[in-house]
Amino acid sequence: MADQKFEFGKITTHLVSSGFIYPSSEIYGGISNTWDYGPLGSNMKNHLKDVWRKHFVVAKMNIFQIDPSIIMNPKVWEATGHIKNFHDPLIDCKYCHARFRADNLIKSQKPELNVDDMSNDELNEVIQTQGITCPTCGKSSFTPIRQFQMMFKTTMGVTEDKASTVYLRPETAQGLFVNFKNVQRTQRAKLPFGICDIGKAFRNEITPGNFTFRTREFEQMEIEFFFKPGEDLQWFNYWKDECLDFVNKIGIDKDKLRFRDHSAKELAFYSKATCDIEYDFPTMGWGELMGIASRTNYDLNRHQECSGQDLTYLDSTDNSRFLPHVIEPSFGLDRLLLALLCDSYDVEELDNGERIVMHIAKNLAPYGVAILPLSNKLNDKAKDSLWSLISENYDAVFDTTGSIGKRYRRQDAIGTPYCVTYDFDSMEDNSVTVRDRDSMEQERVKIADLATYLYKKFHE
Ligand code: GAP
Repeated sequence: MADQKFEFGKITTHLVSSGFIYPSSEIYGGISNTWDYGPLGSNMKNHLKDVWRKHFVVAKMNIFQIDPSIIMNPKVWEATGHIKNFHDPLIDCKYCHARFRADNLIKSQKPELNVDDMSNDELNEVIQTQGITCPTCGKSSFTPIRQFQMMFKTTMGVTEDKASTVYLRPETAQGLFVNFKNVQRTQRAKLPFGICDIGKAFRNEITPGNFTFRTREFEQMEIEFFFKPGEDLQWFNYWKDECLDFVNKIGIDKDKLRFRDHSAKELAFYSKATCDIEYDFPTMGWGELMGIASRTNYDLNRHQECSGQDLTYLDSTDNSRFLPHVIEPSFGLDRLLLALLCDSYDVEELDNGERIVMHIAKNLAPYGVAILPLSNKLNDKAKDSLWSLISENYDAVFDTTGSIGKRYRRQDAIGTPYCVTYDFDSMEDNSVTVRDRDSMEQERVKIADLATYLYKKFHE
């Protein structure tokens, strides 16, 4: 773990108090480890989705974005093995009945052990022999590991019988596989090509926590990239580079990123390789941001077998017919956002006190520009001359409360890259003062030149 300047808790407290993220259903006492994105977090999430889309969809000629449903035919989850195998190892403390995920419990107390490689019998053995204790009561006596189904079940239709049991999708990926034929046919897509989406996924995690890092409802941005069998390694390496490039592009500190290749034991039997990009989070250490998996033709093959539909691809260059292989880059939106927020948080000691500043990439910050009329008497003039000019291109905020110094600090603390101050001279010289978040330098700019000025600043 690299040197971390700030505690994770200090950063998350700031995020909650300034309006990035709120505890869900807070007025009813909240609901465990469930979070709502406030105006700032939700703006940033939208910006991150836009940048992801520009990088992976708009800039590419062969990636198609779709928006599949959250509730799918339950046969999908039989085909993928989720109903049978999507379990976590659950144990209970025999004394206080606190419940844990066995692998995570060991990881928190014996970080030197590689639990990812362990079978349930091996995890049981470690718990019994290595002095693992209950974090709640401190005792050391646990039930044997049981498998806990992680998919949320609900019912569809008016009768609550077995026939109408459906699941909230535990990953968005299957909506992409089941639409392989639709997209290929309607878009006349030729290999190699990809299908992607951005959407919610749900997992009944045993031990959610670390703020938004592990939650039961989260958002994924996933791509299934299809190609001719045999090209697996070439495309796996291509997507590793592409994904790292993207994570660097959004401004996350390179020194806090690493690839982690899954060991042969961790890999699913059908997978040729999987690699995660991890981020070194303050206090909690390395955590997975996203994964790149080489999944062969496993998913298409299973869906072909279970649906009875022909999902093969006809290669018109040589008239061969086959099931394409796939590389799956899968991003967790909430984790990416959390990493960005942790990475950008800073507290500077200035002569006139402390300054909290979020050095968020300009195009991702919740607000691009804050408009600050120097006096309430100037509110209408500032609004008339600046609001539509700025809000046409940037998420803008109009802040009239407190002294100008306090307003600058407030905008620094939420990462607004530019503050535009309208003062008493503005009416005379048709100019405003633009203040830069990072350098705190101020420049007088003609209102007529402001759009071009800001454009240059956002693209420098
Ligand atoms: N389709 C492949 C798949 O879902 P995964 O590694 O289980 O793979 C992909 O999930 C990404 O989704 C993870 O790298 C992580 O960023 C995010 N993710 C998974 N479970 C999560 C959870 N409980 N809370 C927040 N993000 C989660």
